[in-house]
Amino acid sequence: MIDVESLVQHAIAARQRAYAPYSNYFVGAALLCADGTVVYGCNVENAAYPSTICAERAALVSAIAQNQRDFVAIAVATKDGGTPCGTCRQVMSELGIEMAVYITDELGNFWTTSVRELLPYSFDPKSLEA
Ligand code: THU
Repeated sequence: MIDVESLVQHAIAARQRAYAPYSNYFVGAALLCADGTVVYGCNVENAAYPSTICAERAALVSAIAQNQRDFVAIAVATKDGGTPCGTCRQVMSELGIEMAVYITDELGNFWTTSVRELLPYSFDPKSLEA
């Protein structure tokens, strides 16, 4: 299994692929799947701004399409160590509630958190049970 520092470096590499001509805020994500696969995500912006997808959700939807369902961790890279937005926290909660989350800046200075810590009291699939 890949070590944390390498996953962080993958997120920094994924950041180079971001398409962010409007904000110039480049975000990369590296999602570690249970079988050891690492799936990249990056933010992809759009002239119709709300059509933008964030790096974290891009990684998760790409992984699902590649038949991955079991996620161990995600590393997220920005210039300055920005944290995941609310929408990404919600989607991470749905698909990877047990994930560790590593937040890094562009130099690889990272800290560790978790989906549970980022989104306490989340609305989850159990909330829909009658
Ligand atoms: N962004 C992400 O990719 N992930 C987040 O969790 C926060 C925001 C992107 C969306 C947009 O392209 C840019 O950062 C500025 O909001």
